Amino acid sequence: VFAEEPKLIAAAQALNEFPPAHLPEIAFAGRSNVGKSSLINALSRRTHVTRVSDKPGETQSINFYGIGPRLSLVDLPGYGFAYAADEKRESWSQLVEEYLQTRKSLKRVMLLIDARLQLKASDLDVIDMLERNRVRYQIVLTKADMVSTKDLARRATAAQQEVDRRSSHVSPLVMVSSQTGAGVLKLRAALSGLAVR
Ligand code: GTP
Ligand code: MG
Repeated sequence: VFAEEPKLIAAAQALNEFPPAHLPEIAFAGRSNVGKSSLINALSRRTHVTRVSDKPGETQSINFYGIGPRLSLVDLPGYGFAYAADEKRESWSQLVEEYLQTRKSLKRVMLLIDARLQLKASDLDVIDMLERNRVRYQIVLTKADMVSTKDLARRATAAQQEVDRRSSHVSPLVMVSSQTGAGVLKLRAALSGLAVR
């Protein structure tokens, strides 16, 4: 699946700009700067499918990427970004929530958490929203290269426990580094399983 060249299908800023829900979709959610766009680049073996930036709030629309005719990846704007104007922040999160709650073709939400940080209140809010709407999701610890192997295992266990307290049906947590490629192959294989056969 991921051998295909990814193509930007739509950069939506309103409901009526969403493309038709034909392909199975995987959405990437998480706080600003957690590494959503970087992971989409790493998964698709490209360095600049989506824009990556040091400054949070880089992705400001819901970006739909077609990976050939079998799968699409959706880059969501980050949350927890304190610098955007309140009004703008509200409308983004409303659109993202609408997307997550109504999108028929959404197969799974990859919820990205920076491996160096614990789950924040905003992450837990999103988890609760996904639970309420029965959206399938999976936790991904990002920037695994930034913590020692020992620390990583400890943090993964802590995050898993936190999530397990809220739900019993979440897919097991995965750890990745878009920088070193650690975990990317495995994730690619798992997501390929959700594509059209
Ligand atoms: P928004 O679009 O603002 O919500 O951010 P995002 O979640 O898309 O993050 P993005 O991919 O733009 O990455 C943010 C910063 O983290 C960039 O400076 C990346 O280079 C860096 N980064 C992303 N993934 C990794 C990783 O695996 N390891 C390290 N060390 N840095 C990473
Ligand atoms: Mg981004």
